[in-house]
Parts: sequence; structure tokens; C-alpha cells
Amino acid sequence: MSGIPTSRDSFGSKFGVIAATAGSAIGLGNIWRFPYVVGENGGGAFLIIYLAFVVAIGLPVMLSEFVIGRSSQRNAFGAFKVLAPGKPWYLVGLMGVVAAFMILSFYTAVAGWTLEYIYQSFANGFSGKSADELSLMFTEFRSDSWRPLLWFFVFMGLTALVIISGVKNGIEKYTKILMPILLLILIVLCVRSVTLEGARGGLEFLFKPDFSKITARTVLEALGQAFFSLSIGMGTLITYSSYINKREPLGSISFSVAFADTLIAVMAGIAIFPAVFAFGIEPGSGEGLVYITLPNIFQQMAGGYIFSLLFFLLLGVAALTSTISVLEVIVAYFVEELRLSRKKATWLATASVSVLGIMCSLSWGAMEGIRIFGMNVFGLLDYLSANVFLPLGGLLIVVFVGWVLGKQKAKAELSNDGLLKAVYFPAFFMVVKFIAPIAIALVFLQQIGLISL
Ligand code: PFF
Repeated sequence: MSGIPTSRDSFGSKFGVIAATAGSAIGLGNIWRFPYVVGENGGGAFLIIYLAFVVAIGLPVMLSEFVIGRSSQRNAFGAFKVLAPGKPWYLVGLMGVVAAFMILSFYTAVAGWTLEYIYQSFANGFSGKSADELSLMFTEFRSDSWRPLLWFFVFMGLTALVIISGVKNGIEKYTKILMPILLLILIVLCVRSVTLEGARGGLEFLFKPDFSKITARTVLEALGQAFFSLSIGMGTLITYSSYINKREPLGSISFSVAFADTLIAVMAGIAIFPAVFAFGIEPGSGEGLVYITLPNIFQQMAGGYIFSLLFFLLLGVAALTSTISVLEVIVAYFVEELRLSRKKATWLATASVSVLGIMCSLSWGAMEGIRIFGMNVFGLLDYLSANVFLPLGGLLIVVFVGWVLGKQKAKAELSNDGLLKAVYFPAFFMVVKFIAPIAIALVFLQQIGLISL
């Protein structure tokens, strides 16, 4: 068991906690995945289901991670050792650390593409290119042998520099600056998009409920998206909440974070779809939407140069505040369990993530030939982390709080030892004990193909 740390870094203010945690939640998952998933799954109808999941399942899972992190004041692995000594629950934390390695390597690779696109926006590289040329530009860049690698290392380095400065002077300091910038850029992009002629179709596409498109699969898709978007299921929020002061109200913090995450996702949809419709472009999917379709729009749009630059900056900032939260999971584990200095822990974590990251970055280039279960390394890590590790981790986390830690301890933590009312507690505990485990188990079994709904 890990010893009691003598002085532990912590967040300095409630705003700092919210900026950092919302920074983790808001990322690539909100800005390119969410709008596309909503569009493909019935627009407004999907949105209603998604919102219900964020409130009914996402919030309780987030609060469960907060209970584990703040009551133990440890990293994701050590937390379980403190709360359930002598039991194998620490394996859940270890799984989180492993998931952090996997997510960081492929997520940073995509984040690196954002830097190339910031550079291209700056150099006016999209100008005069046809849709096919822009598509070729993306696939050629991605299969290049060194450019994706270069940007991967730059992004990884930026992430490491923030983490090395610590929780208050690194994570909190930078997220407090970056998150308001992100909001500001997004507001500008939303205004530009909805004021384009023909924007209406995009708003209808996004918000008009089409219940005929809702199937059991769609419902499960909404839950999966909520998980990834809220950064739950792998100990990121256990780690962050271990730095939250005992006086802070966990209930209202989790509400603010979930609200901000959802708001930004919806705003990303408002920034993207009206523009897509205004230019008569088919709403594309996944990475194509952001890296091929949007440059095509920007180069036709008045003021496109500046909006393109702003958009990719937005994407980069959103990704950075997420990658730092994932790196912190590994660094906190190295510092507290392996007793390394923060500096050594950061570089060791960065170097080891880079091994996998190099393979991810080269997944369309030099290492394209490496296939595991028919997927390249990038695809495999993406699949394993999002579809196996996160839901399984989330499931075990709620089971731990509901059935192992128990009502008394959870209530004490959420009410700050009786100082706060925590009126939501009975509903929260009921979800954590029964509803969330069943709902998450269904998603998990569906995603690994054991059941088919
Ligand atoms: N929530 C981030 C996003 O939506 O892009 C991704 C993420 C970050 C997932 C941190 C998991 C995590 F631990």
C-alpha cells in the first residue's frame, strides 16, 4: 500500500477545478464526433436521449469517481488500495492507467493533425483546392512518414510541459486561460455559421427530432458517446478529484462540468452543420467532416482564412486540455506508486506513451501493414479503449461505490461530512447501485458483440 504523501498538490479554486475537469471532458469527442453522431442518429431525438443519459447515468458515474478520488486523495490505482485494502479492486485503477496509455497515444496523434491544419490554415494551404484535392491532401498528410510524427511529438511535448508544472501551476493555470478562449472562439464560429445564407437546413438537421431513426442501437450509441465525452470510466476524474479541496461541493461541480461539456458539444454542432448546409455539402462523417469538409467550406467562405485558423485552434486547445488530463493519470500513478519525482514521472510517461504513439501516427504510413484483428494500431487502440476499457471501467466504478464502499461513506463524501445537504443523494445512490450497472453492462455487451440489440 502506498504511504501517506506529505504534501500533495491541489486545485486552488472552484473555478480552477471546473476549468480543468471541463477541459478534460471537452475535446475531440465534442467537436467532431458529437455533431456527426447526432446528425446520423435522428438529430433532436438523439439529443434528447443523450441529455437524459448525461443526467441519469453520466452524472452519477462522474460523482462516483469524485467520491473515490477525493475520499482517498490518491491516484487512480492507489485510491482503490486505500479504500479497499487487501482486495483486488486496485486492478480497476490499473486498468485505468493502461487505458490512459492507449487513449493518449491515438488521441495525441489526432490532436497532432490539428497542428498541421493550424499550420495549413495559416499558410492559406486550402485556398483554391477542390473537394477531391482537399481529400487527397488529408490522406497524403496522414500517410506521410514524418509529418504526423513531428506533430505528434510537438503535441506530446506541449502536454508534458503543462503537466510538469504541477496541478495548480500547470493544469489549473493553463486550463483557466484556455477554456474561456475556447468558449470565445466557438461563439464567434457559431455566429458566423448561423448567419450564413441557407444555414437553416443545418439547424433543422441538428435539432429536428426524427424519432423514426431511433433504434436500440442508437440508444446505446448515445450512452457510449456520453461516456467518452464526459471522460468517465478510466480514472481521469478519480485523479483530478483527488486534488479537490474538502470544502468544495462535488455535486455542483459535477453538474457544471456535465453542463459545460454538453453545451460545447451542441455549440460545435451549431458551428458546423449550418455551414455544411449553407454550402450544399453532404454532412460527412468522423475525421472527414473536420479535416476534409470544413477546409472546403472555409476556402469558399468570406473571411474563411481567419475562421479556419480559429476553428483548428479551437480543436487544438480542446484536445490539449484533454490530453493533459490523461497524462496526469499516468504521472500521478508514477509519482505516488513508483515514488518518482514529478519531472522524471512526466518524461518517463511521455517517452513510454510515445512508443505506442509513433505506431499510431504511422498507422496510415510506414506501419500500415501491421494489422491486428484486421485493424491498424490506431484503430485497435481506439476500439479497445473506447469500447472495452471505458465501459468496463465505468461499470466496475459504480459497482465499487454502490456495493463495496457503501452508502454511508459515499454520503459523507458528497455532503462534505454532513455540512452540505446533498438532496440528490437517494436518487444518486439508487442509480449507482442498480440502474447504472445494468445500463452500462448492456452497452458493453453490445459493443463487444456478445449481445445484439
Ligand atoms: N472527453 C474527451 C473528449 O470528449 O474528447 C476524451 C477523453 C479524455 C476521454 C479523457 C477519456 C479521458 F479520460
